[in-house]
Amino acid sequence: MSDNTAIKIFITGACAGLAEVRQALQNHPDIEIVGTAVEPGKADQKLASSGAQVILHGTARGDRLPVAEVDAVRHATAAPIILVTSGGAASLLHEALANGIADVVMLPQLTDALVFTIKKTCQLAATRGGLTPSQLRTSTAEGRVLTVFSPKGGVGKTVLATSLATQIARKSGRRVLLIDLDLQFGDVAIMMGVEPEKTIYDLVMTTGELDPEKLAGYVTSHPSGVDVVPAPVRPEDAELVAEDRVGRLLDVAKETYDAIVVDTPAFFQATTLATLDRTDRLLLVSTLDIPAVKNVKLTLQTLSLLHYPKDRINLIINHGMSKAELDRREVEKALDLKAMFEIPGDRDVGTAVNRGVPVPMSAPRSGVSKVIGDMAGAFFEGKGDHGAAPVKAGRGSAHVRRPGMKLRKAA
Ligand SMILES: Nc1ncnc2c1ncn2[C@@H]1O[C@H](COP(=O)(O)OP(=O)(O)O)[C@@H](O)[C@H]1O
Ligand SMILES: [Mg+2]
Repeated sequence: MSDNTAIKIFITGACAGLAEVRQALQNHPDIEIVGTAVEPGKADQKLASSGAQVILHGTARGDRLPVAEVDAVRHATAAPIILVTSGGAASLLHEALANGIADVVMLPQLTDALVFTIKKTCQLAATRGGLTPSQLRTSTAEGRVLTVFSPKGGVGKTVLATSLATQIARKSGRRVLLIDLDLQFGDVAIMMGVEPEKTIYDLVMTTGELDPEKLAGYVTSHPSGVDVVPAPVRPEDAELVAEDRVGRLLDVAKETYDAIVVDTPAFFQATTLATLDRTDRLLLVSTLDIPAVKNVKLTLQTLSLLHYPKDRINLIINHGMSKAELDRREVEKALDLKAMFEIPGDRDVGTAVNRGVPVPMSAPRSGVSKVIGDMAGAFFEGKGDHGAAPVKAGRGSAHVRRPGMKLRKAA
């Protein structure tokens, strides 16, 4: 039985006594078992989409950490792992500690003691996800802002933003914030499968100065480890999200996250410009059709008028499912810009979108996930980075000069 506050757990692996544990937890009001899988490697999708807050992994080996199984769990979810074993040796505890296992429970165990461990683990993970003050202070490097933009709707901006954020969080364990600046019709929450408790509207309507601790109270956590700031629930609230507040949000986010991925609407508005100002990498998305290319060209001209540094612009070609009229080279020639990445069209994307599970989690072996993985690597490891080290915008340097108008349509 469960209620709204029950902690969602997923049980993987096997060991003596685990069935009894499962039975006891099933009847516990504070716990909701959202899934079980003996072999986590075969339950990728189930684990990823379960929304589990804590993973209980049973292992029959009491002497060594089941590394492959732990890796398989981690591949699917960023939820903390509690190891359950029927006979543990000191070596297991040692390895568990070294490998970031949240806790080790030796069976038999009183149900209440186990529930306490689960609650404690969940609480700790929540503070970690929401940043403890000490972590905030030790954060030294400035986070990098990756903004996904296109002057056309339906070209895959949100698919790219959600997938990239998820991939960066899962692959490198970096702290990632995903912000939906498509303020009227944002789809980030839907594509990530999260129920927004608070949105960017609530965040900007708070009184007083935004700081990292306050921000932590307004993000929605996703099982991948990504923190999400969703778009307002009501389109009419969009206009109340002012550009200076968005600017402040990004500045604060840079202090506490390694990567800030921003999804945008299909036109320039004041909040988009405030974001471009703080963007390290602009991922300009085009599909292979003439209207998209024409509008991307106009966008490049606008960016040039704004004196936007060209080396921050990365062209991403998304094939989507429609039959391409053009090929990559034609597009590159028309835009006078080389594409940094080409995302293949894949049916898995549509399934992922409709299920609300980002592509790297719902279809980790798809061609799209492969490209997104390379992209995450390029932005954070310097690989495939057009030869240049990742651009970091110096404070106050090369900022966008804004034209004296509030709203600029790119097309
Ligand atoms: N690489 C792809 N392969 C297949 N379908 C895709 C791909 N990229 C995007 N799509 C489809 O296109 C639709 C629009 O994508 P979306 O990210 O919402 O576009 P935008 O945010 O630019 O409006 C999605 O519903 C998705 O199913
Ligand atoms: Mg979108």
